[in-house]
Amino acid sequence: MPEYMPGRAPERSLVLGIDFGTSNSAAAYIDATGTLRVVPLDGARFEMPTAVFFASETHTVLFGGEAMQAYLSGIEGRLLRSLKSLLGSALMDEYTNANGQALRFFDIVVLFFKDLKRRAETHAGHAFSHAMLGRPVHFVDDNPERDALAQETLGRAAREAGFTHIAYQLEPIAAALDYEQRVSHETTVLVVDIGGGTSDFTVIRLNPQRSALADRRADILATTGVHIGGTDFDRLLDLDTVMPLLGYRHIGSGGRPVPNSVFFDLSTWHLIHQSYTRKALHFAKELWTDFADRRLHARLMQALQEQHGHRMLAAVERAKIACSTSGTAAPVELDFLNPGLNPVLHASAMAEALQSSIAQVVQCAQECVAQSSLKQVDAVYLTGGSSAMRPLMDALRKAMPQADMVQGDRFGGVAAGLAYAKSQA
Ligand SMILES: Nc1ncnc2c1ncn2[C@@H]1O[C@H](COP(=O)(O)OP(=O)(O)OP(=O)(O)O)[C@@H](O)[C@H]1O
Ligand SMILES: [Mg+2]
Repeated sequence: MPEYMPGRAPERSLVLGIDFGTSNSAAAYIDATGTLRVVPLDGARFEMPTAVFFASETHTVLFGGEAMQAYLSGIEGRLLRSLKSLLGSALMDEYTNANGQALRFFDIVVLFFKDLKRRAETHAGHAFSHAMLGRPVHFVDDNPERDALAQETLGRAAREAGFTHIAYQLEPIAAALDYEQRVSHETTVLVVDIGGGTSDFTVIRLNPQRSALADRRADILATTGVHIGGTDFDRLLDLDTVMPLLGYRHIGSGGRPVPNSVFFDLSTWHLIHQSYTRKALHFAKELWTDFADRRLHARLMQALQEQHGHRMLAAVERAKIACSTSGTAAPVELDFLNPGLNPVLHASAMAEALQSSIAQVVQCAQECVAQSSLKQVDAVYLTGGSSAMRPLMDALRKAMPQADMVQGDRFGGVAAGLAYAKSQA
């Protein structure tokens, strides 16, 4: 590896393609010899969790896999995940307490970009001043102003992190450009990118002979997207398997269910911190009169006071991945809450809990094909971590039986496509 000299620019400005994901981020560039380099951002792994951890005892800030490990091992501090979900919302400018310091969520995104940039530069051996940022088809559904604000905020964060030249490309188009490197003749493809926060679809005409063209807009036949992804699956499965153990859907002595807002916050990655405020704790404490079974209330209070929200959701996510891989069942390991408390997530229950979300995702895929005016596509190219979800794959296959299902690079594909995108511009 060449020696790293901070601030030294390569002879020609190389562009860092950055896939800033809800759950994971990845980066890639085309080097001076024209070779694609996907940056191993997290040890040997290409993707790094989009996570920031403020360790309160040491007053240090950790990023990526280190942030997740520190948090899950029980080190005192504050974890932030799903920062992308906040882009375009008013929360971005709100201040939050991080290691005794008031920081805006925006400042935390900047810190994350700075760290990612530093990792990429250490790997490449030179500085990057140009960034090609991926963006979902919709950051925010049905709200063009907030959607534009989300992109502007993303760009501003990259600029504050030190990038001077910024361009954007839609994430599914980037995924398609990566796939195109591997096809040998003209093909129509539905690119399906099911990530942590969004599901994006693009129908694109691929042809390796056209891949050198700068402007490929004519080959993009349709794009659609919906704000549903793996973190929504985590929330639904958390509500289905774990939250009932804390009183969700519990019918109290007065014959009424316990108010459910506390459980919704506690099972939504980017809202969990709101459950720990003094006001929220007070509200939860007062709920005890609504519980017929006080043990459930005691467990809820324990989860809130000991701040187990992310840990519970991470246990659900692990069970989701295990269950989706095996197709059978997996335990949700909640020993930190109560030794031996391991509710089982069954594949059939998972499919049922996610049925309506999966149906919306598949409908959005079908709308994309319909908008393209093609009767059908030759191939369905799957990318994004959640594209491994079995019930989702089954539903897609059923909806498009004539198309080849191609499993792409689940985590590095979009970043690779972003690197190609700029090399063509
Ligand atoms: N084998 C698997 N089975 C099911 N889900 C998985 C698997 N592996 C990862 N996931 C899920 O994939 C999601 C992360 O995917 P990915 O890294 O593509 O998202 P992202 O790019 O961060 O999100 P987005 O593109 O929506 O901003 C997480 O919700 C994770 O739980
Ligand atoms: Mg993604």
